[in-house]
Amino acid sequence: MAATRTFSIIKPDATRRNLTGAVTRMLEEAGLRVVASKRILMSREQAEGFYGVHRERPFFNDLVTFMTSGPVVVQVLEGENAVQRNRDVMGATNPENAEPGTIRKELAESIEANSVHGSDSEENARIEIDFFFKPEEIVG
Ligand code: CMP
Repeated sequence: MAATRTFSIIKPDATRRNLTGAVTRMLEEAGLRVVASKRILMSREQAEGFYGVHRERPFFNDLVTFMTSGPVVVQVLEGENAVQRNRDVMGATNPENAEPGTIRKELAESIEANSVHGSDSEENARIEIDFFFKPEEIVG
């Protein structure tokens, strides 16, 4: 099966606790390769645009405030079945419901401070990758 790509964010709760390496190691051990990576401070405008589908949800404002509260690491991950592989290693959105051995079960603090974001489909992966990366920044 050909390698595909997905988009990942290491969230402010993880960068604050110096867990960038720990998260990346779990991604790599799950068979994903980091083919692009940059540490950024998201602007409010960027976070609102990125999470636009959640605009009407009650947690939207808190989510945007949290995602702009500290550095994040945006990444492009490559591997076989990358979207699903990444979702499997991330675990459930709420760490209380995540399986042992997943990033969210082992490292996350709460449903909001849940350490990582990952694309939920190949189509959204393409949109999210394009949101943060120019093609020449991705080196496979
Ligand atoms: P993420 O995959 O980044 O996409 C949207 C985020 O909203 C989600 O992860 C959660 O961290 C966050 N969030 C905060 N509160 C909730 C909630 N009640 N239900 C779902 N997602 C939530």
